[in-house]
Amino acid sequence: MKKVLIISTSLRRNSNSDYIAREFERGAKDAGNEVEFISLIGKKIDFCIGCLSCQLTQECVIKDDANEIAEKVKNADVVVYATPVYYYEMSGQMKTLIDRMNCLFPSDYKFRDVYLLAASAEDEESAMDGAVKGVQGWVDCFEKATLAGVIRGTGLTETGEAKKDEEILKKAYEMGKSV
Ligand SMILES: Cc1cc2nc3c(=O)[nH]c(=O)nc-3n(C[C@H](O)[C@H](O)[C@H](O)COP(=O)(O)O)c2cc1C
Repeated sequence: MKKVLIISTSLRRNSNSDYIAREFERGAKDAGNEVEFISLIGKKIDFCIGCLSCQLTQECVIKDDANEIAEKVKNADVVVYATPVYYYEMSGQMKTLIDRMNCLFPSDYKFRDVYLLAASAEDEESAMDGAVKGVQGWVDCFEKATLAGVIRGTGLTETGEAKKDEEILKKAYEMGKSV
């Protein structure tokens, strides 16, 4: 049994990446894992100010919702990010969270497998290349971790469209089941 932490970063209700994340969650739970699902809706996460004091203290000087999320990421076996594609990249709120978790860099983090679940309006899978590159860059900074899987939920524009996309939902469920 693994500790799986899913962070859904879209701030809109009925979001496509959130639907994909919920299916991943269902698969991971069906396989007997302990799963926690966090949505960034309603969370306060300020920008990293770049002071780097966290590299000495392993704590951020800013106190908001990012501190608790960073602690959960540190102690999970599997970390899953779900994001809408914004201008060929991960969402700004996801990037802000990642920056704020810089305190994990010198820490004895437990996570090993990282997954990315992304939703884009465009049909081309390359619409997600920037988001994948960004997450891969983060993973590369944690040498005990790997980017274990990516779901490219393309062709999703309006809210709730992913709910009807059986192929993407099945992929997400199966990936969740295999963590
Ligand atoms: C600010 C912004 C930028 C976007 N940029 C892109 C983009 O570069 N490529 C793309 O395919 N879709 C883009 N989209 C569309 C979203 O990725 C798409 O609607 C997706 O389904 C949103 O996921 P969500 O429902 O999980 O929030 C953009 C949407 C917004 C609001």
